[in-house]
Amino acid sequence: MKKYEQVANVLSDQIARGIYHNGDRLPSIRHLSEQMGYSISTIQEAYLLLEQRGITEVRPKSGHFVNRRQPSPPDLPSTPEYSVRPEETSTWAKVFHLLYQTQSADSLSLGRAVPNLSVGTLKPLQRSLAALTRRGELRGLSYDYILGCEELRKQITRLAVDSGCNLSPEEVVITSGCQEALASSLRAVTRPGDTVIVDSPSFYGSLQAIEACGLKTLELPTDPRKGISLEAMQLACEQWPVKACLITPTFNNPLGYCMPDNRKRKLLDLVRRYDIPLIEDDVYGDLGYAAPRPRTIKSFDSEGRVILCSSFSKTLAPGLRVGWVAPGRYASRVMHMKYISSMSSATLPQLAVADFISRGGYDRHLKRVRSVYQRGRDYMIEWITRYFPEGTRVSSPQGGFLLWVELPPEVDAMALTERALKQGVGVAPGELFSGSGKFSHHIRLNYADCPGTKMEKGVKLLGNLITAGSGIR
Ligand SMILES: Cc1ncc(COP(=O)(O)O)c(C=O)c1O
Repeated sequence: MKKYEQVANVLSDQIARGIYHNGDRLPSIRHLSEQMGYSISTIQEAYLLLEQRGITEVRPKSGHFVNRRQPSPPDLPSTPEYSVRPEETSTWAKVFHLLYQTQSADSLSLGRAVPNLSVGTLKPLQRSLAALTRRGELRGLSYDYILGCEELRKQITRLAVDSGCNLSPEEVVITSGCQEALASSLRAVTRPGDTVIVDSPSFYGSLQAIEACGLKTLELPTDPRKGISLEAMQLACEQWPVKACLITPTFNNPLGYCMPDNRKRKLLDLVRRYDIPLIEDDVYGDLGYAAPRPRTIKSFDSEGRVILCSSFSKTLAPGLRVGWVAPGRYASRVMHMKYISSMSSATLPQLAVADFISRGGYDRHLKRVRSVYQRGRDYMIEWITRYFPEGTRVSSPQGGFLLWVELPPEVDAMALTERALKQGVGVAPGELFSGSGKFSHHIRLNYADCPGTKMEKGVKLLGNLITAGSGIR
């Protein structure tokens, strides 16, 4: 990033954080140049960039001001009303079609939930992997102990303290990604034909696991700030024989919400009352923009009812395939399901991740990516405000790197996705996040990459496609 872009970013961050409000005068060029140690021309270029972005305006002989007519950010996505009932789903063909195309065709992937892999703080992890290979130890080539590497399980229990959880290494089982943790947990606590409550929209990987286990999905209305409706959940539990609940309560994919602690407690009370196991997906939990990280529901659980699933796929890198599950009272069944799925997980990446965490690399990396993602969110929302049509609504995540966008109802997000893909931009269409065809005018966008011209061009292209009617039904 060029110097003037860095200066412009500092100023727009300050505006986004409310240090300067609409109509406020910004520091003079000379003052900023002295304060930041950059040349006058760098500051001038930064101000020009902010003006081009519509963030500031120049008033002759008075200086630079925050633009009074800056559009306010879009509203949050609405919570659709629909009749709640258990449904069998069969969306794999649609999901496969999109994943297959996305892998091969898009050059700017705003669609896949991949974290930023290019930040320098990941380098020590690559060095750990290389060093382990170079040393030629045979351990990395052998089957691992059924629970996974002890070094890694110890580190996981240390990290879990930040989310309020007191776990011992014997209570943690390493899995091949969070997906295996979720699928093993589901299979452990249900039988084909059972009904599972999920938040809606919901991560399509969990919906696929539900579908493949022959289960029915009960999609409950979910608020973009507070999470799953507890009222709807109580009614559902009274009305239907619910056998499990699977949700992502902290920095949810795709809606971005983080359930407040009091609602997490209430949800736990509910599943307790109806004697339902709760599968908690915490894969984005360490990616909050504010410290300390939120508590998990598991941290309030004293009876082993919550099965906590997570991985290092979103915090570090998905290619490692290192995940874990703390199965509580369902340990024996979950381990059995994990065993028939993959026996044990790959050893080498586990050793490397344990080494990386023990040297402080994980904390340093989180610090770095959290600020990259927060800035990415602000930019992405700003671009959407500028390039997308009126009536667009956007989530406001306080962690993670995914944005949920509700487009005007006449937009067909599937058609938009296909057309955008042909022009080299991948997005995730909303229908993937429901087993029953909801969210047909929604898309999910990834803002993990450092914000730059390429990303802005991608968002602009999407905006153009929508307003030109390409994605209109
Ligand atoms: C909410 C959620 N859970 C689980 C997963 C799967 O994680 P992993 O790659 O560790 O299997 C993802 C990946 O997108 C996700 O978004």
